[in-house]
Amino acid sequence: MKKRFLIAGNWKMNKTVAETRAFFKTLQPLLTPTVRSELLICPSLVSLAAAFEANASVGISLGAQNVYPKDSGAFTGEVSPLMLKEFVSYVLVGHSERRTLLHESDAFINEKLHALLATGLKPVLCVGETLAERKEGRVFDVIACELEAGLKGVTNEQLSQVTIAYEPIWAIGTGETATPETAEEMHAFMHDWLTKRFEISSVSKVRLLYGGSLKVDNAKQLLSQPHIDGGLIGGASLKADSFVEIARIADGIEKDI
Ligand code: PGA
Repeated sequence: MKKRFLIAGNWKMNKTVAETRAFFKTLQPLLTPTVRSELLICPSLVSLAAAFEANASVGISLGAQNVYPKDSGAFTGEVSPLMLKEFVSYVLVGHSERRTLLHESDAFINEKLHALLATGLKPVLCVGETLAERKEGRVFDVIACELEAGLKGVTNEQLSQVTIAYEPIWAIGTGETATPETAEEMHAFMHDWLTKRFEISSVSKVRLLYGGSLKVDNAKQLLSQPHIDGGLIGGASLKADSFVEIARIADGIEKDI
C-alpha cells in the first residue's frame, strides 16, 4: 500500500479563535485543485471547536497538541482523549517543548500514547536530540531511547495508527534546518529500528515526519528523501498559503512512499 504524505501544522500557542476561523476561510480556495497529500492542522485547545466548525466545508484532518491520559476526573486544567475525539483524529505527544518546558517524562508520554490508542485517536510521537547530544555523538542512542520508551507496550496492530516525527531540537523555530542528508540518515535509522521490533506490514504503514524549520524553500529537498513521509511544521503552517504550497511541493514529488 502506498503511503500519502502527511503535511502537519503544529500551531503551538498561536492564533485566537477569530484567527483560526480566518485561516480556514483563506485555506478553502487554496485547496482547488485538490491537494493529494493529507493535511493536518493542530490548533490550540481553545480553538479546536472553531477549527472543527470551520473545517466542515474544508475537510482536512485536525489534531490536538496535548492530552491527559485519563478519560475523566479530578485533573484540573487537563483534557481527555474522549473530549478530543469529538473534534480531532490526531494528537501530538512528546513534543520537545513539552518535554523541556513541562518536564514530561518518557513514561508519561507512553501513557498518553496508550490512552490515545485506546480511544481510537492517532498519536504523533515526537522525538529529537539537542545540539549537545548531537555534538557528543549520542544522537542515535537518544532517538532509540525515546522510541523504545515512547512505544513501550505497543502492539503491531496499534503501531499502524502511530506517526513518528523526528524533530532535532536545535532546528525547531531556529531557522536552522537539518540537511536533507542528516534528516534522511535519522529517518532511515528510525525505519530500521522499527523493523527490528515490529512486523514489516505494520512498519510500512507508519509515516515518519521531519520537523524543524521546514518551509517552502527546503521542503522539496527534505520531502524527496526516501524515508521522509511528511513534515511537522510550526512557523510555516501559520500562513495558509505557505502551508498549502508545501503540500503542493509534496504532491509533485515522485516517490513510492
Ligand atoms: P518549526 O516548528 O517549524 O517552527 O521549527 C516545528 C515544530 O516544533 O513542530
